[in-house]
Amino acid sequence: MMSKPNPEVLVRLTAACKDYGATLAAVRALDDLSLTIAKGEFVAIVGTSGSGKSTLLNVLGCLDDPSSGRYELAGIDPAKLDAAERAIVRNRLVGFVFQSFNLLPRSTALENCELPLLYRGVPPGERRARATRALESMGLARRVHHRPAQLSGGQQQRVAIARAIVTNPPLLLADEPTGNLDSRTSYEVLALLQALNRSLGITIVLVTHEQDVAACAKRIVTMRDGRVIEIGRAHV
Ligand SMILES: Nc1ncnc2c1ncn2[C@@H]1O[C@H](COP(=O)(O)OP(=O)(O)OP(=O)(O)O)[C@@H](O)[C@H]1O
Ligand SMILES: [Mg+2]
Repeated sequence: MMSKPNPEVLVRLTAACKDYGATLAAVRALDDLSLTIAKGEFVAIVGTSGSGKSTLLNVLGCLDDPSSGRYELAGIDPAKLDAAERAIVRNRLVGFVFQSFNLLPRSTALENCELPLLYRGVPPGERRARATRALESMGLARRVHHRPAQLSGGQQQRVAIARAIVTNPPLLLADEPTGNLDSRTSYEVLALLQALNRSLGITIVLVTHEQDVAACAKRIVTMRDGRVIEIGRAHV
């Protein structure tokens, strides 16, 4: 299961293809894609709709396996794991943030944020303390007992980020995290992601349509038709 990886490499995708469906209706969503991401990087993935960005993120987050090629996350090949082992790897190594926040509507910010720790078997007192700290770090100290419907979009996304980082994952994956936010709120959320990257060294992979959002990253990977067509440095 474990190889001897370069300790600086967190994500290593090699010649990955991802095919959806069979025969005539088949779609090649990833096409011979290779990508290496070192610990501590902040990478933006850009590209037109349908270019394979979400598919790539799902592979990086061990939600899906490539149809061919190889993926290693921190030296672990998720394709070799059973469902339970895979869930543990995801819980330990990956935090996810989505465009639509994906919070449980009937649970408070605190309860939402505690969930990954509950799955991990952390006892209630410690769970509560860590979730509270994560929410505080997102500026939500006074909103812990609010439900999602009682929060603004930006606050809901900050709860989602708190939930994603409450386990201290080395890798944070964000799929259009500012897609439902106005521009001012978008910048607040991006500033928080940059702070997580700078101060905690969390590796961030952010999918976005918007060039100015991508400019917040240190590296920009441009996709087209399931391939990487350009890797560039952001000019900030
Ligand atoms: N579950 C699926 N079944 C079949 N085809 C799929 C599936 N998911 C994605 N695809 C196809 O794979 C290709 C890549 O989709 P993907 O969602 O990765 O694109 P994207 O770059 O994230 O697009 P967007 O910017 O619109 O979110 C598209 O052509 C899409 O239609
Ligand atoms: Mg997408």
